[in-house]
Amino acid sequence: MSTTTLTTENGTPEHEDSESWAAEVRRLARERDAVILAHNYQRPEIQDIADHVGDSLALSRLAAQVEASTIVFCGVHFMAETAKILAPEKTVLLPEPAAGCSLADTITAEDVRAWKAEHPGAVVVAYVNTTAAVKAETDVCCTSSNAADVIRSIPEDKEILFLPDQFLGAHVRRVTGRDNIRVWMGECHVHAGIDGATLRERVAEEPDAELYVHPECGCATSALYLVGAGTVPQERVRVLSTGGMVTAAKETRADKVLVATETGMLHQLRAANPGTVFEPVNGRAECRYMKMITAGKLLTALRDGVTEITVPPEIADHARRSVEAMVAIGSPSRGGE
Ligand code: 13P
Ligand code: SF4
Repeated sequence: MSTTTLTTENGTPEHEDSESWAAEVRRLARERDAVILAHNYQRPEIQDIADHVGDSLALSRLAAQVEASTIVFCGVHFMAETAKILAPEKTVLLPEPAAGCSLADTITAEDVRAWKAEHPGAVVVAYVNTTAAVKAETDVCCTSSNAADVIRSIPEDKEILFLPDQFLGAHVRRVTGRDNIRVWMGECHVHAGIDGATLRERVAEEPDAELYVHPECGCATSALYLVGAGTVPQERVRVLSTGGMVTAAKETRADKVLVATETGMLHQLRAANPGTVFEPVNGRAECRYMKMITAGKLLTALRDGVTEITVPPEIADHARRSVEAMVAIGSPSRGGE
């Protein structure tokens, strides 16, 4: 019997025999002609059973390319919506429809319309962590792995409205050197909680460790300040998407890496490089929405075909233009740097 522990949302064991669970998931997926996509923040057992694990951009690209007629999206609601927008002919299932996103909740389509009215002619760039209705109001999407490339694709003299993440917005301003970017002041409760004070404490405890920082983190500016102040050498600090972190983990020769993002990420990093120790900057940084997808819910999703995610065609058509503009630009190998 496998040693993987399958847990419910509150952490109690869910299935005694993880091998029979895995076999049943695989059988049902074949029967339903389904592919299982999982984000890097999913529970370890969900990552291990998935056909593909990745960051938002990689999963969006896969949703558009896979041949299966059904996509079971183990992630949060906006990700399943994005898959549906890019693959309208496919059935997209989200094992827990209440798996939302505190960042996506910081802006509505009406907010975007009002903001655009204040800045006519501006190009609206939306992080993919937004609802389909918000995406439909924007010109181009981005993820943490291609945000800077998306900004660079817009003529220098064009004003940009960047939404909804203030920390990613500050990061793209910094790396592109542009000052005509207005940023919506939203944040993700998980990443905002990984703040500068926590990072400085961890760096003082582990002065020789490398640092991987997701650009949504409250500590992204502090990390670069530590470089500027000479506390940490520049080559030891990387600002990366979750997919960029896996690529960096495969290449690093460091003994230890401190990771500033949601703790689900550690599963992929440890698998990518067993010779390096990966530790969280903040071990309490857990996204409760991502963790709503449990072994039992994945099984039910496959068995009963629930919950199907749909996007009204008019919204989907507008949102698709914005998402496809992003998919055409992004270069996943560059990570968030
Ligand atoms: P990535 O695009 O880096 O996978 O991040 C997605 C996300 O939800 C971050 O919280
Ligand atoms: Fe949303 Fe934050 Fe969870 Fe990512 S970690 S899905 S941004 S709430």
